[in-house]
Amino acid sequence: MAKTTPAARIETLRDKIRHHEHLYYVMDAPEISDADYDVLTRELQALEKEHPELVTTDSPTQRVGGKPKEGFPKIAHSRPMLSLDNVTSEEELRDWDRRVRERAGEGAEISYVCEYKLDGLSMALHYRQAADASAHLSRALTRGDGTIGEDVTTNVRTIRSVPLSISKTKLHKAKLPATFEVRGEVVMPLAAFLKANEEREAQGLTAAANPRNYAAGTIRTLEPNIVAQRRLDFYAYFALTATGENLFTEQSDALDVLTAAGFRVNPHREAIHSFDKLMDFINRAEQNRAELGYEIDGVVIKLSSTELQARLGYTGRAPRWAVAYKFIARAGTTQAEDIKVQVGRTGKLTPVAVLKPVSIGGTTVSRATLHNADFIEQLGLKIGDWVKVERGGDVIPKVVEVIEDKDHPRGHKTFHFPAHCPECNSEIVRDEGEADYRCINVDCPARLRESLLHYASRNVMNIEGLGEAVVNQLLDRKIVRSIADLYKLDEPKLLSLERIGEKTARTLLKEIEQSKKAPLNRVLFGLGIRFIGERTAQLLAEEFGSMDALMAASQEELERVNEVGPRVSQAIREFFEEEKNRQLIEHLREAGLTFTAEKRKKSSELEGLTFVLTGTLPSLSREDAKAKIEAAGGRVSGSVSKKTSYVVAGEEAGSKLDKANDLKVPIINEAKLLKMLGSS
Ligand code: IVH
Repeated sequence: MAKTTPAARIETLRDKIRHHEHLYYVMDAPEISDADYDVLTRELQALEKEHPELVTTDSPTQRVGGKPKEGFPKIAHSRPMLSLDNVTSEEELRDWDRRVRERAGEGAEISYVCEYKLDGLSMALHYRQAADASAHLSRALTRGDGTIGEDVTTNVRTIRSVPLSISKTKLHKAKLPATFEVRGEVVMPLAAFLKANEEREAQGLTAAANPRNYAAGTIRTLEPNIVAQRRLDFYAYFALTATGENLFTEQSDALDVLTAAGFRVNPHREAIHSFDKLMDFINRAEQNRAELGYEIDGVVIKLSSTELQARLGYTGRAPRWAVAYKFIARAGTTQAEDIKVQVGRTGKLTPVAVLKPVSIGGTTVSRATLHNADFIEQLGLKIGDWVKVERGGDVIPKVVEVIEDKDHPRGHKTFHFPAHCPECNSEIVRDEGEADYRCINVDCPARLRESLLHYASRNVMNIEGLGEAVVNQLLDRKIVRSIADLYKLDEPKLLSLERIGEKTARTLLKEIEQSKKAPLNRVLFGLGIRFIGERTAQLLAEEFGSMDALMAASQEELERVNEVGPRVSQAIREFFEEEKNRQLIEHLREAGLTFTAEKRKKSSELEGLTFVLTGTLPSLSREDAKAKIEAAGGRVSGSVSKKTSYVVAGEEAGSKLDKANDLKVPIINEAKLLKMLGSS
């Protein structure tokens, strides 16, 4: 049997991986297991490491690459990215439809395409013909001011539903040229949003308001690694030529071609010829809305024929040939009767408006978050004010504005943020640069209550049956004064509680016993150390391998872990230095919890990587840096080429930096290099 060359095997693997990524990320219909997919990816990574000269920018391994260009360079759009006029009722839509028919002229055949109006941020992707006649993603621009967008290519490359390249064969089959532009919407699926927010809360950070803001913030972060970790999706809805002309004569064809070329196109779309069917589509969309897994805020209706589109033209900001039917936001108006301050498990104080109960989208809402003290000030909110409250997805209701008109007189009681913790009356602090006040009393009963609930929750120690009702009773009767006391519970203690029978007691004890087997990363997450979310806990457990090693680690050693910076390392040190926490750990150890983890195997991570050093590094001399890289299995070269894996740049870096930029070689600083070395 003929032996395949590495180059041929690499191509085969890339094609396979692209195929399975398309099935998974675009079609939502994977055909192989994650494990099998990983096997393919690992083989490709290994081959590319062995043959760095064969690495191409469109390889599936190259989604996370260099840094975004500084300040996201501003680039003009091929044609303006406009917004849409809105209608919010059947009457308004009917008027719009009538105007379209009038302008189109008698006898014109009107065919609309209805699409969901995705609630994200619009994006223009430019593809350019490559040497092998395939199409390569060359640029991604945000909408910006509509005329000039921002170049966010490095970040958009990490979105798995964005093809990095489209083969010649696929282009041919789809009837798409190799150079074109596609416009569409970047959205964050609800599940990813909720998970990311949980993580933020666990880290003591303020939750993001909605998936759109989160997606927009993510696209503009300077860390492509972070973008890659947050699941974003891209839905295509326009196909243009490189100069911004329509590629197809019908919008419905454009959507079909983009689908065939491998883009994610929203499946909820329909060609519609009559007004009644329009309303029917809109009503179905609204009913469907809650089940989609991503947010939509309406339906976009576009005239399908680009010839008719041209005939209708544009008003100032928006086309006459398309309109957005916006769903009325799930919002309600009610009175803020009071403002209370809640204490979270990390001690964070969150002001909450106590509302006159109001029904919003079928749910009675009687509380809504006010985020923090600054937010109340920005709103100018007074107790007694009428407010607008919004409820999106599964997110907690929030106050969005104060209403002021003759029907809604203003309240007049000013709210003063408490000077002490409302639960335990201890001192509260607000760290510099942070929006939140925190109660710093580690014995605060509210913190303990929230900590126990967090500890027992599904993502943490998964103690089923330890919910609010039980926790409240355990605390009120002083049976439990710390997390460790959970492991001292027995049947008589549980039976002394209300609404707990023998069977429930036994099941709960079994659940608690079971939790002792939870791995170290979950224990760490459960302890409620500030900034330690699920992921950081996992990285720490893998790096240090045991509770003792972690407790003994210096701030410097902690910061060798990817994603651990000074703020996090300090929080970890502070936690373990606190006597009370040390006692808690000892009690948990006595109870028999899992305090060791499998340490990540030390492999020479830098093996196969070539570095070029340029400029003066802040702490390492050239020789030191070289010695360290080589000790970790890497190579140091004197000049930048396509084969260079990283350029390490310091102060006054010279032409090598420009060359790296030209060749799109990732540029890192000393800190990043040390991090790479630390984990190798
Ligand atoms: S068409 C000139 N189609 O809604 C046509 N827009 O208010 C403008 N949007 O900025 C865009 N889903 O960010 C179009 N299926 C869809 C859309 C969509 C969401 C967003 C887009 C645009 C805004 C217009």
